[in-house]
Amino acid sequence: MSDTMATDSKSSDKHSLNGMLNRLKSAVAPLRDTLRDLHAKYQPMMDGRVADYIPELAEADPNWFAIVAVTADGSVYEFGDYNQLFTIQSVSKPFVFGLALEDHGRENVLKKVGVEPTGEAFNAIVLDEASNRPFNPMVNAGAIATADLIKGKDYPDRVTRLTQMFSRYCGRQVNIDNSVFMSERVTGHRNRAIGHLMLNFGMVGEKIEESLELYFQQCSILVNCHDLAVMGATLANAGVNPITGERAIEHQYVKDLLSVMNSCGMYDYAGEWAYRIGIPAKSGVGGGIVAVVPGKVGIATFSPLLDPKGNSFRGIKVFQELSERFGLHCFESGFTGESFDDQLKHVRRT
Ligand code: DON
Repeated sequence: MSDTMATDSKSSDKHSLNGMLNRLKSAVAPLRDTLRDLHAKYQPMMDGRVADYIPELAEADPNWFAIVAVTADGSVYEFGDYNQLFTIQSVSKPFVFGLALEDHGRENVLKKVGVEPTGEAFNAIVLDEASNRPFNPMVNAGAIATADLIKGKDYPDRVTRLTQMFSRYCGRQVNIDNSVFMSERVTGHRNRAIGHLMLNFGMVGEKIEESLELYFQQCSILVNCHDLAVMGATLANAGVNPITGERAIEHQYVKDLLSVMNSCGMYDYAGEWAYRIGIPAKSGVGGGIVAVVPGKVGIATFSPLLDPKGNSFRGIKVFQELSERFGLHCFESGFTGESFDDQLKHVRRT
């Protein structure tokens, strides 16, 4: 057995042993009760609507609801429908931005997409008048320009690079929901309009139709709420998946993703989210929200009932409570409430 195989098997043994220890630890930590109570509190809430502008998304069950937290050292706390698969949609955008940064470097990427919040809806047909760039990689325009930057020798190779990246973050092989992909493709006229507007200004290349397909593919990747929390924990752990030990992104770019998630991740709710909750986050019309407390934890919610801005109703409620209760706001100071760390400490149950 070669050295690398020896080290790989040693490190995977280390990770599976850690995994087991973490499962034992998390089994008796107060956070388990906290998430269970939050899940019970918001399960009955049926505000909002399931997205239907992409017809296949309307198949989602409005009762689906999950909350998962994965710590930067790999402890997992999960409640509700955390194994229920759904399409990642816009939650994919910061991670694809990360791959574009690795492919081209920060300054080259910023020539094609800005980092300014728009205050507009996610699918607004607007570009920055001064630079003709899409405002940021979290809105559809910026995400399509980002997809256009993904390298590959051909289209299948570009799709493979995307799915391999998401598999590193999730710690398992991810697949694409072809029915949602086809549904996006057939109804994607607005995204095509945005794509061709950017072609007109040279913000994307001649292969824009191929890049639009790639964008529809990335949005149609199937994940569950557990996966999203592991993806968040990977960013909280400086780019290394805490469950598998595999690096998913160069550590130098983690701050780029967290910065645009913090300023633009929740679209025309981003300002209020940053003010009230203050944790870098990203939502998607499939009902997922992932948020990251750097160095500590990745937290995800899944509930397909959306508010008029395309963000999950139940998800926002859960994050509001968690942030207020444990002082998770990134600018929190002099917090005297319960510490999140105490929530992770195992307590002897009588
Ligand atoms: O392009 C679209 O409209 C969808 N594939 C993604 C939009 C989305 O997830 C917006 N998020 N709240």
